[in-house]
Formats: sequence, structure tokens, C-alpha cells
Amino acid sequence: MKTLNTKKEVSALADSWHAEGLRIAIVPTMGFLHEGHLSLIRKARAKADRIIVSIFVNPTQFAPNEDFAAYPRNEKADLALCEAEGADLVFLPTPDEMYAPDASVGFTETKLSKVMCGKSRPTHFQGVLLVVNKLFNITRADIGVFGMKDAQQLAVIRRMVRDLDMALEIVPAPIVREPDGLAMSSRNVYLSPAERRNALCLRRALDLAEAAWRSGDTSTAPLLDAMRGLIEKTPGAGIDYITAVDADTLEEVEVLRRNTLVALAVKFGKTRLIDNTLLK
Ligand code: PAF
Repeated sequence: MKTLNTKKEVSALADSWHAEGLRIAIVPTMGFLHEGHLSLIRKARAKADRIIVSIFVNPTQFAPNEDFAAYPRNEKADLALCEAEGADLVFLPTPDEMYAPDASVGFTETKLSKVMCGKSRPTHFQGVLLVVNKLFNITRADIGVFGMKDAQQLAVIRRMVRDLDMALEIVPAPIVREPDGLAMSSRNVYLSPAERRNALCLRRALDLAEAAWRSGDTSTAPLLDAMRGLIEKTPGAGIDYITAVDADTLEEVEVLRRNTLVALAVKFGKTRLIDNTLLK
């Protein structure tokens, strides 16, 4: 496995792979890798000949009041995990390498990024689209793999690829959960033991959605009320949003149907957790 720090070296290697007719997948990450990320690498392995994992805590997707500086990092462990999963290349740029000091071009997505997480993180998805687009360009990727825990991110990236006629395939990968049901996230390390226990309310609320869907109970309003009730009685839990939307357009739905995304964001102290279920 190679590790490279410069855009130029990564693009040169990717060009040489393309010259050999190999398909390249990029797995963009912010590091502090867990089983969820590793499942993305495995997914990439099944679809492509060469796997590039990027590890970059992207400053442009954090607002000044957010956790950019505190975001957990462990480069040594990350590299060992990438190697064990058979990644071909890890791209580890610095912010100065990624962004020119006078960079002045960005992204504006005007619909999907304005709802759900976009309401409390109004600049977040612009930063995500900017860095993901740059990573696609630098790595010459044919395939980009993204986890479904960040379902809104996935929808926004798919929209960018569609609207800008980008020639790469976006591959979603299922949410990976801890044995007790908590969705894996690098931010779970911020939780105190009590918060960690109480954070299971997210999964329990989503269980209500899955149970309603299974029993043919498709009215959204009573479901969202029940989910809200469950979370409100959990100590320390502060609801940011609970919603049922179409997974592609992120428009709210009044009646549950196939491809409805039931999603929520809940804060425990300063830690904001997201989770969702896609009704199939
Ligand atoms: O999902 C993430 O970890 C980040 O938003 C991503 C896609 C790596 C862009 O920085």
C-alpha cells in the first residue's frame, strides 16, 4: 500500500492505473476509521481494481463553532486498517495542499442541502461537495463509495453528479452498527458512558418506524410523534430534527412509502448524532 501527500503524485499514479485499463474507486474519509469505513473499502474492492482511501479532516465543511480542531485523529491506526483491508493507496493531504490560499470557487446546492442537517449546519454541504469534487478530480475516480448513515450527504453528492454530468458511479454502502444498535461514527468517542447508553434511543426510535412500515401503518405524523416522545423522555437527548422524506429528493412525505428515509439528528451535550432507516 502506498501513502501519498500531494495531489500531483496521486493524479499521476491514478493516470498510470487508467493507462493500464484499471478501474479506480475512491473512499473519502475523515479518518479515525471504524468498521463502517472498512465496509466501504470492502464495497470498493468488489467494484474496482484499485482502491484509494483519502484521509482528510476537511476544514471547509466545519463551521467556526464546530468540532474541526477536536475531531478525533489517529493516522497510525488508520494506515494499519487500510493496509489490512487491501487499500492500494492512502491519500493524506494537508489543508494547505488541498486548498490554495486564494481559492475562490465553491459549490452552491440550493435544495437538498437546505433541509435536515442543512438547517443547523448551513455551510456544511457546500464544504462537502467542494472537497468531494476535488477528490474525484484528483483521484480520477470511476467510483465513489459513501455510507448510508450520512444519507443526506449521499443524496447531495448524487445530485451533484447528476446535475454536473459527472462520469462516475456513486455506490452506497449500508449503515454498520455496534452490536447494541448504535450506528458507528467517529464522533461516538465524544459520548460519556451515560450518553453512550442513552444514545440507543436513536435506534429505538427508528425501530418504531420499521415496525410501523412492516405493519402497514403508513401515516407519518403519528409515527414522528411517537419517535419524538421516545427521544424526549431519554435523559440528555436534545432533538435537532426527526423527519420522513423521499430518499432522493429529501422532500417530506405524509405517507410512508418505498424509498422513504426516516432520519433524525439528536444532540447529547455537544455531540450531535445522526441515524436513519430507509424503508424498502
Ligand atoms: O463523510 C465524511 O466523512 C465526509 O463528509 C467526507 C465525505 C469524507 C468529505 O469530507
